[in-house]
Amino acid sequence: MKKIFTRLTCVVLCLVLLFSFTNTAFAADGWHEYWQANSADIEKGIYIAPGQTESERTIRWYSDSKDGNFAEISLSEDMADAKQFTASVTETPQGDYSAEAYISGLEKGETYYYTCNADGYKSSVYSFSTVADTSFSALYVTDVHISYDEGIEEQSGKFADIISQANDKADVSVILSTGDQATLGRRDEYCGYVASEDAKSTTVAILEGNHDRKNIDYKYFNANPETDDAGVKSYIGGDYWFVKGDTLFLVMDANNADGAYHHRFMKNAIKANKDVKWRVAMFHHDLLGQRIPHRESENKLLRLIWLPLMDEFSIDLVLMGHSHYYTLSNVVYRKKTVLSTADIDKVTDPKGSVYMVSGSINHPRGLDPEDVPPVGENIGKYVDTEEMIYNILDFSEDSIVIKSYYSGEDEPFTEFTIEKSTQQGGHPKYIQNPLNAIARFLGEIYSVFNNIGVRSDLKKKYDIIIPFFAGIFG
Ligand SMILES: [Fe+2]
Ligand SMILES: [Fe+2]
Repeated sequence: MKKIFTRLTCVVLCLVLLFSFTNTAFAADGWHEYWQANSADIEKGIYIAPGQTESERTIRWYSDSKDGNFAEISLSEDMADAKQFTASVTETPQGDYSAEAYISGLEKGETYYYTCNADGYKSSVYSFSTVADTSFSALYVTDVHISYDEGIEEQSGKFADIISQANDKADVSVILSTGDQATLGRRDEYCGYVASEDAKSTTVAILEGNHDRKNIDYKYFNANPETDDAGVKSYIGGDYWFVKGDTLFLVMDANNADGAYHHRFMKNAIKANKDVKWRVAMFHHDLLGQRIPHRESENKLLRLIWLPLMDEFSIDLVLMGHSHYYTLSNVVYRKKTVLSTADIDKVTDPKGSVYMVSGSINHPRGLDPEDVPPVGENIGKYVDTEEMIYNILDFSEDSIVIKSYYSGEDEPFTEFTIEKSTQQGGHPKYIQNPLNAIARFLGEIYSVFNNIGVRSDLKKKYDIIIPFFAGIFG
């Protein structure tokens, strides 16, 4: 009897194993087939960038033709009564064109279908939805790192799977991505980043990580609604903002140390959106995690510029990346913890900002268990893992709920809520400190020399010639 039972257990176990292997193989095969069948659209890098308001978007793609580029938008999947939006084009370093169709007049709470068109080319039909009111969900990821050297198709498939998992859990209306989308900053890596049908059917807010600056393709790939605030900028792009629901997203380039430029940008963006209740800042560099000791000399300088900006403009949530280590900070004001989040899962009217970094999708970093893992004194929650992590942020009028998941898991490993009863919430009234303005100005000078260095590196490495002033002022 015992023998039969053992044999039966073996058979069941073998079947379970076989089934799980078949499943994995199916998933991989499915992506490979999708990749081959949709190569034309994938190579075009079609994606939807946010507009400043919910009634606007920019649809972007690569085109072989200079003329005759337009996007079509319809309320039905069969593209009935489609409206055409002419695209403007910019010549790319590869010799073709980047087409951008600026869409306006979108209604709230609708699903729109679109195609991208050029002479002899029509894309598949993709869709996107607009938010109905103040409630919406976002997928926050960072350091997706699609890497040419490691296989774009496979790495793009991993990101596609993450987006799909998030869509299974929430109605994701925007992907918030805090830099290092592409390891070498190559065009084909960006095309891989938005390869999936899910990515092409969601508004995607990207920003400049240090890796995105390793080439100039980001400049042509991104269609962000950049503002024209004066200052020193990276050649590949500057800061931009957009409003979704009752939240203002301030998306900034932390490669650029010109604090005076970022200060002007934030001030103007907030002035233009005085009544928006929530403020979320996004940029690449991890200010508070302190998980990588050799980066701390750079981080000290970054903190001098960025922390006062978050205090001055009463930022509720700061989304960052770069370290590849997941951390959620305490409530921080004037560089100090004002409330520990280590043992709580909710704050109401916090008297400062909460800073968050997610793990990397394709390059997650774990820590050696033998090591004493370093962690910043302002960090409340953190994990050491080589699992892929993604986050669903549920925004509503009264709260932001952060749910952080390991890939493949049904339940979040962290759930944390920020509640605010008024627009100012608990944010203290900011008192100006002239030293911060001096730090921002010194950052401006530093960034001029930094941009000259980047310009000369690109010339040496790839023979890319950037005009001198464009190399400094963007
Ligand atoms: Fe990274
Ligand atoms: Fe980075």
